[in-house]
Amino acid sequence: MLKAAFIHIVLLLVFISASGLGNNNTTTAAAIDVCFYVEGDASPVRKTFANSTGVRKFITERHVKVEIHDQPLTKVHKYSFTGMRHVQELIIWDCGVIDVEAGAFQGSLSLRKLDLRGNYLERISTGIFNHLNVIDLNLSYNKVKTIETEAFNPMIFLKKIDLSSNLISNYSPSWFGRKHFLRELHFENNSIGSLPENAFSNVIDTEFALTDIFFSFNTISNIHPETFKGLEGMLIRKFHIDHNALKIWKENWTININELNISHNSIKTIEGDLAKIIKNHSLKNFEHNPYNCSCLKEIKSIGDNYREHSQWFVDRYAECRMPKRRRKLPNKTTVRNMQIWSSF
Ligand SMILES: *[C@@H]1O[C@H](CO)[C@@H](O)[C@H](O)[C@H]1NC(C)=O
Ligand SMILES: *[C@@H]1O[C@H](CO)[C@@H](O)[C@H](O)[C@H]1NC(C)=O
Ligand SMILES: *[C@@H]1O[C@H](CO)[C@@H](O)[C@H](O)[C@H]1NC(C)=O
Ligand SMILES: *[C@@H]1O[C@H](CO)[C@@H](O)[C@H](O)[C@H]1NC(C)=O
Ligand SMILES: *[C@@H]1O[C@H](CO)[C@@H](O)[C@H](O)[C@H]1NC(C)=O
Ligand SMILES: *[C@@H]1O[C@H](CO)[C@@H](O)[C@H](O)[C@H]1NC(C)=O
Ligand SMILES: *[C@@H]1O[C@H](CO)[C@@H](O)[C@H](O)[C@H]1NC(C)=O
Ligand SMILES: *[C@@H]1O[C@H](CO)[C@@H](O)[C@H](O)[C@H]1NC(C)=O
Ligand SMILES: *[C@@H]1O[C@H](CO)[C@@H](O)[C@H](O)[C@H]1NC(C)=O
Ligand SMILES: *[C@@H]1O[C@H](CO)[C@@H](O)[C@H](O)[C@H]1NC(C)=O
Repeated sequence: MLKAAFIHIVLLLVFISASGLGNNNTTTAAAIDVCFYVEGDASPVRKTFANSTGVRKFITERHVKVEIHDQPLTKVHKYSFTGMRHVQELIIWDCGVIDVEAGAFQGSLSLRKLDLRGNYLERISTGIFNHLNVIDLNLSYNKVKTIETEAFNPMIFLKKIDLSSNLISNYSPSWFGRKHFLRELHFENNSIGSLPENAFSNVIDTEFALTDIFFSFNTISNIHPETFKGLEGMLIRKFHIDHNALKIWKENWTININELNISHNSIKTIEGDLAKIIKNHSLKNFEHNPYNCSCLKEIKSIGDNYREHSQWFVDRYAECRMPKRRRKLPNKTTVRNMQIWSSF
């Protein structure tokens, strides 16, 4: 019994050198080094194969993880990973992959985690990821500029997608096609300038209250009023849009956000009903914006409503009261702002 249980939890970490998989230069088909890790065992057992066919034939265990790291693998060809029916986790990171052909992972039905981070992928074509049962797809730290329509459709089990630190300039829900149920979307550190209408209704589902959406470190200056169309009444767990180029907050959404981070923007004024959207927050999520005085007052009152000590926040932005240009001879506007200030 014990032995059976032990075999069951065996984890194979397969380390494959690149040449046997992506490169069809048969004259140099180098041997493939494979490292097997048994769970709880620190030192790997190495095995060498003549080619990738040998590796694929060898993998028969149920719990298998394949990791290729730091190997010169510029292209992942069609059918490269076909037949690895038991592989649950495939990691090809820092390998200089520029191109993945459609069908490269076809038939890898057990694949749950696919991690291609740190490569040089520029284009995500339709046919690479469609129909996979992957839950967690990591494409961060690539050079992705273009994602084809329906590139991720259907991927009915997809929960997490990470496209952070790429070169994306336009976010489009059309990449996802039909209905999805994502719980985590990462688009940090791209060059996205705006969020379109109806951005998430086919991507996340109103039944799940625990969705996290990250668009920090982009250049977003415009959020469509109907960005959250189709998700009315939903509670989003996190929506981070800090370090962007928002000048005004005019959103008047009918969704709720537990943690809205709008820090490090250029927000001067707040027009939408911010208090209505936010369910729970820290004033830190509003820091580093050039708020005008009445706007600052509104944020302070949000803080007060949550019984958070908010004087530090007001102190930090005290310059709104006395703009340097107007210090000598305050005109009517400045005087009015001072009155607002004194009512804090
Ligand atoms: C691999 O084969 C394809 C088509 O058979 C060919 O276009 C390509 O140049 C080959 N690559 C190498 C590295 O031999
Ligand atoms: C194929 O291998 C030969 C011999 O090492 C090498 O000179 C050549 O550059 C390789 N070709 C490709 C396309 O990788
Ligand atoms: C792969 O290697 C095996 C020996 O391990 C050999 O019999 C077979 O011909 C090789 N296949 C290819 C496509 O090179
Ligand atoms: C994707 O990979 C990056 C780089 O290793 C890592 O920091 C990030 O946490 C991963 N994303 C997810 C969603 O796990
Ligand atoms: C942001 O993305 C660029 C590549 O687009 C990368 O070089 C840089 O390290 C990323 N920054 C962070 C903080 O991850
Ligand atoms: C926000 O929407 C509500 C109802 O939809 C409306 O009554 C209110 O005037 C709107 N506020 C702004 C600032 O657009
Ligand atoms: C509110 O947020 C804080 C930290 O951001 C967290 O500890 C707390 O559990 C949250 N409360 C609710 C009701 O979500
Ligand atoms: C919001 O963003 C700011 C700046 O990046 C950061 O200091 C703060 O911790 C963030 N808030 C949360 C809840 O992550
Ligand atoms: C300050 O912001 C409020 C809304 O937050 C706006 O109504 C008001 O016009 C703004 N004042 C100035 C001087 O821009
Ligand atoms: C008073 O200050 C406001 C706000 O900066 C400015 O728009 C206006 O031109 C000023 N008026 C005079 C008479 O200086």
